[in-house]
Amino acid sequence: MTANSLPESLIPTLPGEHYTGQEIFAAEQRLIFESMWFCAVRRSDLDGPGAYRTVTVGRESVLLVRGHDDVVRAFLNVCRHRGARLCAEESGEVRRAFRCPYHAWTYGLDGTLLAAPNLTRMPDVDRTTYGLAGVAVREWLGYVWVCLAREPPSFEEQVIGEVVARLGDAGAVEPYGVAELAVGRRISYDVRANWKLIVENFMECYHCATIHPELTEVLPEFAEGYAAQYFVGHGAEFGADIKGFTVDGSEGVARIPTVTAEQDRRYFAITIKPQVFVNLVPDHVIWHRMYPLAPDRTLVECDWLYLPEVVAAGTDLSRSVELFDRVNRQDFAACERCQPGMSSRLYANGGVLVPSEHHIGAFHAFVLDRLAPASRGVS
Ligand code: FES
Ligand code: FE
Repeated sequence: MTANSLPESLIPTLPGEHYTGQEIFAAEQRLIFESMWFCAVRRSDLDGPGAYRTVTVGRESVLLVRGHDDVVRAFLNVCRHRGARLCAEESGEVRRAFRCPYHAWTYGLDGTLLAAPNLTRMPDVDRTTYGLAGVAVREWLGYVWVCLAREPPSFEEQVIGEVVARLGDAGAVEPYGVAELAVGRRISYDVRANWKLIVENFMECYHCATIHPELTEVLPEFAEGYAAQYFVGHGAEFGADIKGFTVDGSEGVARIPTVTAEQDRRYFAITIKPQVFVNLVPDHVIWHRMYPLAPDRTLVECDWLYLPEVVAAGTDLSRSVELFDRVNRQDFAACERCQPGMSSRLYANGGVLVPSEHHIGAFHAFVLDRLAPASRGVS
C-alpha cells in the first residue's frame, strides 16, 4: 500500500485513495465521526428555549435544541413515523415542539411524541417508544459535543486527554475562560478538499514561510518552518515589535484578564481529534470545527471568541479577525491545490513527510487504527 525503500528521514503519507475513495470515506464516517465525540455547535447558538441547530455528523443529520429546562439535547433529525427529515433549516426556533411537515407527528423539545393525527385511535403508537432518537451530549468550553455511538467512549480520555497531551495540562486552557467568551465573528469555509488534508496542513508549519506572510510577521519562529502548529504547546512568541495578534501586528483588543504571564504574548495551538483546531492568544480564542461532507468536500466553521464586554461594546474586530481569516484562506487554498493530485497515478502510493512533518505520521496511524475494523470486514 505504501511506498517502500524510503530513506529513514522520509515517511510515506497515506495513499491517494484515502483522500478520494468513497468507500474509505464511508468507513471514516462510521468509525470516526459517528463513533467518537464530535464538536457540534457553540452553546450560545442555542440562545433560548426552543432554539435549534442541525449539523451533519458522519452520515447523519443531528438536531440540537435547548429545552425549557435549559438543557441542550440532541436527536437524530429523522421522524420516527416514515423517516422525513424533521428540520430542513440549519437553525431556527420553535415555541414548544417540532412538527413533522409530512403527517404532522409532533415532538416536544425533550423528544417525546406529543401528538399525532388520530393518535387516540392508534393505541400501539406509544409516545415514549416513538419519540425522537436521542444522541449523547456533553458540554465543554462552551461547545456542545455529540456522540452517535451506542456506547460513547470516555469524553475525558478522547477530548480532554487530547488537550492535556498537547498543552501538558488541561488546566493550561482554563485561564482563557473559553466557555464564557462571546462569538465576535463566525466565518464558514466550504473547502473542496478531504478533511485529512486540512488536519495535516494544520499540523505542520513547513508551509508557513511560503504561504503565510502575515502570520510569520507576527510569529517570527514560524518562518523557520519547524514550529509545528500541532506542537505549539510551548507557545510561539510574538515578534519583538508586534503589539497584538492582528493582521498588521497592531494592538489587539482587551486582554483576557486571567491569561497568565507565561501565556502573554504567545500563541498556542491544539488539535482535538477528530475535527477541532484551537488557537489561543492573549485577547481571543479561535475555534475551528470541521464537518466532512464528502471525500473531497469539508465545511469548516470558525469562531473568533472575545471577552463578552468587547463584543457587546461593538469593538472593531476587523484587524484581529483578518489575520486568521487570511491564514485560513491561504491554508484552504493549499489543501484545494493538493486535492486533485490525490487522484494522480503519482500519488497511488502517497507522497513523503519530511522530518519536520513526521508527527503527521501519528495522525495517519490514528486514522488507520480507527479504520482497522473496516479493513478486517468487521462493522
Ligand atoms: Fe413524519 Fe410521517 S414522516 S409524520
Ligand atoms: Fe497554515
